[in-house]
Amino acid sequence: MTSYSLFLLPGDGIGPEVMVEVEKVIGVFEADGSARFDLDHGLVGGSAYDAHGVPISDADMAKAQAADAVLLAAVGGPKWDGVPYEVRPENGLLRLRKDMQLYANLRPAICYPALADASSLKRELIDGLDLVIVRELTGGVYFGEPKQIIDLGNGQKRGIDTQVYDTYEIERIGRVAFELARQRDHRLVSSEKRNVMLSGVLWNEVITALGKRDYPDVALEHHLADSLGMQLVRRPKQFDVIVTDNLFGDMLSDVAAMLTGSIGMLPSASLGDVDPRTGRRKALYEPVHGSAPDIAGRGLANPIAMIGSLAMAMRYTFDRADLADRIEAAIAGVLAKGLRTADIKGDAATHISTSEMGDAIVAELTA
Ligand code: IPM
Ligand code: MG
Repeated sequence: MTSYSLFLLPGDGIGPEVMVEVEKVIGVFEADGSARFDLDHGLVGGSAYDAHGVPISDADMAKAQAADAVLLAAVGGPKWDGVPYEVRPENGLLRLRKDMQLYANLRPAICYPALADASSLKRELIDGLDLVIVRELTGGVYFGEPKQIIDLGNGQKRGIDTQVYDTYEIERIGRVAFELARQRDHRLVSSEKRNVMLSGVLWNEVITALGKRDYPDVALEHHLADSLGMQLVRRPKQFDVIVTDNLFGDMLSDVAAMLTGSIGMLPSASLGDVDPRTGRRKALYEPVHGSAPDIAGRGLANPIAMIGSLAMAMRYTFDRADLADRIEAAIAGVLAKGLRTADIKGDAATHISTSEMGDAIVAELTA
């Protein structure tokens, strides 16, 4: 049996706690002979900064490039607020995305029926919600140049970020979104701010032309990003696949995630082009949530998004829908039994810890 090479980057805050729970699930598959894994561990974010003075070392970068898939938990925290901007923890994650050319970030927002009451919206608005935000991840204002603070010499400074998109970047993320729409409901919403941004005008043109030319079977709609944010909290179930740029995707995916009751529930996949050498897309899987330093080390974190990220890796990188389905069924199973971590406990009197949730998912998998 070939073994799946996974490079694990637990990172900071609650990252290491939730990664431990993923390793338990991997242990189940190894023990029952479903798969073999070749695991390696590295440092990213503040933990890498503390060890090496950079938020990811070149050696770990090389391991990430070589692995079949990277699993990353979370980076950042107040401990590193004062470190120089270039080596802040988030830059480790940004370097992984950029150097591995992971331009397509798939962020599903699925509302588990058992959790519909944990949402801040009324149950009927989100029960059965199932949408995916396809976020462009290696361009736009995150990486555009110039990006600097300049001293104007008159007691004033100027902060500059640049929103920039080339045709090819819009086209390749558009393709990922159209293809996904084809596997789902043949509907795609594209979002930008063409009413104030020329990059938005180009985005709109390129997506429209691509749809006409190659995906006439997919119904394409355009929403301005602000109005899309409004619609997402007003009537989220109208959406199926949404494609948008790096910054709008960052914001809208947090909104969509929270609709489902907790940001602690949702995994994401960041994919690059198919590597001709391996036939696989470069890939990094991570929860949508951050490092939550305020609750780190207290057993309060929800490991479901991290474990769901392993499910996405099984599905997209290893073509093991069987194992992905098993993980997702186990997650649904523990939720249906009423087991809740603190973030999703709602009005319940008690909740279980991070490791108890991991153990419950393992028990469900081995039942
Ligand atoms: C995300 C995060 C990151 C981003 C941060 C940690 C750099 O918010 O993955 O959504 O802004 O992309
Ligand atoms: Mg974000």
